[in-house]
Amino acid sequence: MSTPRLQTDGFHHITMVSNDAHRTLDFYGDLLGLRLVKKTVNFDDPSAYHLYFGNDGGRPGTILTFFEWRSAARGHWGVGGVHHLALGVADAEAQLKWKRRLTDAGVNVTGPLDRGYFTSLYFADPDGQVLEIATAGPGYGIDEPDDALGEELLVPPTERMPEGRDEEAIATTTHPEPVPEVTNDMRLQGIHHISAITNDLAEAGDFYEEALGLRLVKKTYNQDDGKTKHYFWAAYDGNSVKSHSAMTLFGWDGSDYMARPGAGQTHHIAFRAKDAEEQAAWREHLLSLGLNVSPVMDRTYFESIYFRAPDGLLCEIATDGPGFTIDEADSELGDGLKLPEWLEPRRSEIEASLVPLS
Ligand SMILES: [Fe+2]
Ligand SMILES: [Fe+2]
Repeated sequence: MSTPRLQTDGFHHITMVSNDAHRTLDFYGDLLGLRLVKKTVNFDDPSAYHLYFGNDGGRPGTILTFFEWRSAARGHWGVGGVHHLALGVADAEAQLKWKRRLTDAGVNVTGPLDRGYFTSLYFADPDGQVLEIATAGPGYGIDEPDDALGEELLVPPTERMPEGRDEEAIATTTHPEPVPEVTNDMRLQGIHHISAITNDLAEAGDFYEEALGLRLVKKTYNQDDGKTKHYFWAAYDGNSVKSHSAMTLFGWDGSDYMARPGAGQTHHIAFRAKDAEEQAAWREHLLSLGLNVSPVMDRTYFESIYFRAPDGLLCEIATDGPGFTIDEADSELGDGLKLPEWLEPRRSEIEASLVPLS
């Protein structure tokens, strides 16, 4: 009997690059209402903050992290990079509250756009990272059966394409009242999907399927140009798609417009492993595919291995545990500057090099 194929349950976290940790904290913490669950430094470069935001004390799939690189030049998206990160929201009503809250704060928002499987708002963080707020439903089963997702190449209907949209109505639709507080019904629910760009859709698809055990759940076209293929992979058991697991790719086959890393870009994306034992199996599995895989790295809150997708995107597999309460009580998460034991002797030097956040 053959061993069952390893399948990740989806995303663990996404790590982005910021020029200014304070500004990032204001934007993601105050404006988007995410909870800071850890304030630490980049373990590979302790002169830089590493901030972690997350729901429920930092549940995998809801974790957004930022390296603060004050002098990093702005990057841009392209092949081998993430185009945007979508955060989930319960429904279209809550989404409109977000539109009002963001526009009132001076953030330029596009949408809501009907993407069929969900409805989307687009905007950018202060560094230029493209963000989306996407509704939980109606889901991938609207145009093919839930137990046969990803089988047909689906052409989006005209009403979802630019020529079929009432752009003026979309631009003026918003919540009628100001939204000064992030109310419970609006809470962002973690990573809804991550969309990256590849120049070899077939090769990248093989990678997400063979290396990570994700499955193709939607084959369609970019609904803003109608030409670019847009394929979705996810943790899918043949009946339902797991939350926080949808990886989508825009297929720019043959393009040499490469992503430029830097501020406002995603540094890497991390998928889940249950525990250290499964992590070791992942490492063997990735090595057996001929990938160059890092040794297991102790990140205090999880253990990590790193490798690259064929188009260059940096990927990680991180264990679910031990989690963020390993060095702070749940009620105090994010309060203190936490350092791994091996950096504690350098605390005063490290603190002196960081701009205080409050
Ligand atoms: Fe998206
Ligand atoms: Fe990471």
